[in-house]
Formats: sequence, C-alpha cells, structure tokens
Amino acid sequence: MTVDTHRRIGDVEVGAIGLGAMTITQVDGWTRAGAERTIHAALDAGVRYFDTADTYGPPGRPGVNEGVLADCLASYPGSTEDVLVGTKGGHLRFGPPDTWWLDGRPEHLRKAAIASMQRLGLDELPFYQLHRPDPSVPFAESLGGMAALHSEGLVRRIGVSNVSYDQLSLAHHILGDRLVAVQNPIAPDLADPGTIGVLAHAAKLGLAFLAYSPFGGRLMAKSAGTHLDALNTAAERHGVSRHRVVLAWLLALSPVLIPIPGASRPESIRDNVAATRLELSRNELQDIHREITLANAYQEKQ
Ligand SMILES: NC(=O)c1ccc[n+]([C@@H]2O[C@H](COP(=O)([O-])OP(=O)(O)OC[C@H]3O[C@@H](n4cnc5c(N)ncnc54)[C@H](OP(=O)(O)O)[C@@H]3O)[C@@H](O)[C@H]2O)c1
Repeated sequence: MTVDTHRRIGDVEVGAIGLGAMTITQVDGWTRAGAERTIHAALDAGVRYFDTADTYGPPGRPGVNEGVLADCLASYPGSTEDVLVGTKGGHLRFGPPDTWWLDGRPEHLRKAAIASMQRLGLDELPFYQLHRPDPSVPFAESLGGMAALHSEGLVRRIGVSNVSYDQLSLAHHILGDRLVAVQNPIAPDLADPGTIGVLAHAAKLGLAFLAYSPFGGRLMAKSAGTHLDALNTAAERHGVSRHRVVLAWLLALSPVLIPIPGASRPESIRDNVAATRLELSRNELQDIHREITLANAYQEKQ
C-alpha cells in the first residue's frame, strides 16, 4: 500500500515524517556538531517539521534544545524557507534532581512564548503547542491564554499535546481554525483504544496528529516491536529495520498522522524517512495492526 509522502499541519505541507528534536540534546555525550549532522541529515532527507519545547535540553538546562535547533537550521547550506518549527510551553523543568512541573496559567504561557521566540530567533512562533493540560488550571483558561497569544500576533498556529478526546473537543470548540494539530504518543505498546479514538477525532476535525515517541521513548527504542511476530516478519521480508516497519504502520493508520520520531544519529532519521517508501501489503498491515491491537487490549486487562 502506498501512503501520502506529504501531509499537512494546518496550511503548511510537510514531509510525512517529522523529527522530534528533543533527542539531539538529550542523549549522554551530545555535541553541537553531532546535533548539526542529524538536523542537516533530516533536512537532506526531506524532513520539514521539527519539534521542540522550551523544557527540552540536557537535564537541568531547559531551553538549550530550542537554541541548538535554531542554530543548526541556520547553518544549513540549503533553503529552510519551507521548514516548520513547532515548540511548546506549559511545562517547566528544574534540577538537579531533574523535576518536571506544569504551569498552564495564561500569564506563564505568554512569558514562555516570548522566551521561546527569543531562543528561536523569531518575531512570531509559527506553531505553538500547549505541552500538557495543567490540572490546577481549568483547561479552558489555558486554551483562552493560547487564543490570546494568537490575537496578539505572537503565535500563528496552535496545537495541544497530551490531551484526551474531551479535551481535544474543548480545544477545537474554543480555538476553532487556530487549532491545527494534536500531539500525543502512539507506539506499538501505546496504541490503546483511547489513543486511536483521539486519532480518529483529530482526522474528523481536520487536524494533524503528531505521533510522538513512536518507538515507546528513547529508553525503549532499541527493543521497539521485538515481541511482535507480524512486525518482525515484515521487517525480515522487506530487509528493513523494525523501526521502519513501525513508522510504515503508523503512516498507514491515517493520512493526518505525522510520526515525529526522535533521533540523535543521522542514520536513524534517514532510516525513518525511508518508511514513506516502504510498501507493506494490505495483509501485512492488517496482521501488524491485529497483533498490536490484541497486545494493547491484553495490557489494558492486566
Ligand atoms: N509532547 C510531549 O509531551 C512529548 C513527550 C516526549 C517526546 N516528545 C517528542 O517526540 C519526540 C520523539 O519521542 P522520544 O524521543 O521520546 O521517543 P522515540 O522517538 O520513540 O525514540 C527515540 C529513540 O529512537 C531511536 N531511533 C530513532 N530511529 C531509529 C531507527 N531507525 N533505528 C534505531 N533506533 C532509532 C533514536 O536513537 P538515536 O538517538 O541513536 O538516533 C532515539 O534515541 C521527541 O524528540 C520530542 O520532540 C513529545
């Protein structure tokens, strides 16, 4: 089955595979030169969506990721005019010890957006996402804060992340066309009915679904899908990595889905973009999906 190699985030067309840029400054021993090699390899391969957040950086150094990403995009010898950078606010990170915190108050979101603009070297954030609902602030209030940033001209497009079906409905109700995407995790181990329900809802609302941690997160990525026979069989039959098969399965799930795998190595992002050219048969996709669905249903029961 062939899949669309380009997808949309609102009015912007991007390659079907994005890059979760968090990883470039998250891995032990990361360097600015290594980050640049990976970002440039991603651009060479056709990646046009880069995902960051104000909290990303090595532990204890939030904000570093945005700055490094901006530098690496600026040093690319080719054009980056059609690149979309998405960042996020509403999370805080302190340390050491590494501690994550939430702040969904409109006044914090405004301050955070301005700080992100400065680190990214932009006059306006092309795509700003509310990182996670803050349980101590009514969600509608945080969304109102995001709408205000749009009205003020600080933010052009809005996304929400880590939301439920109902929270996505509320976001769409409050933000209307200003909302262009939802960002939630989906991986072979994270494809429960709730996640698939949000994906279907996003498709119905005409929103992009940015699928983060498609390999289950950095620490689980090596073993992604090892326990799934249909996935291993397809990888062997096509002579490709399991990671590529995971992404091909995700791309086939919905035309609005854009996986944003993390990568610190150029080899990883090149392999991932090649998933757009991997043609799995309908039977292979059905077998993989059935096995993943059963595994998730079994996990839910435990
Ligand atoms: N919205 C949120 O709350 C949220 C939360 C978490 C993450 N995210 C976003 O999603 C992105 C991705 O999530 P993640 O980093 O948690 O997990 P992930 O994408 O599931 O895993 C990343 C790891 O996968 C490895 N990998 C990637 N492609 C590979 C390949 N083809 N073969 C072998 N290994 C491969 C990478 O290895 P190498 O490093 O060796 O290349 C990397 O360490 C983040 O960078 C971030 O932008 C968002």
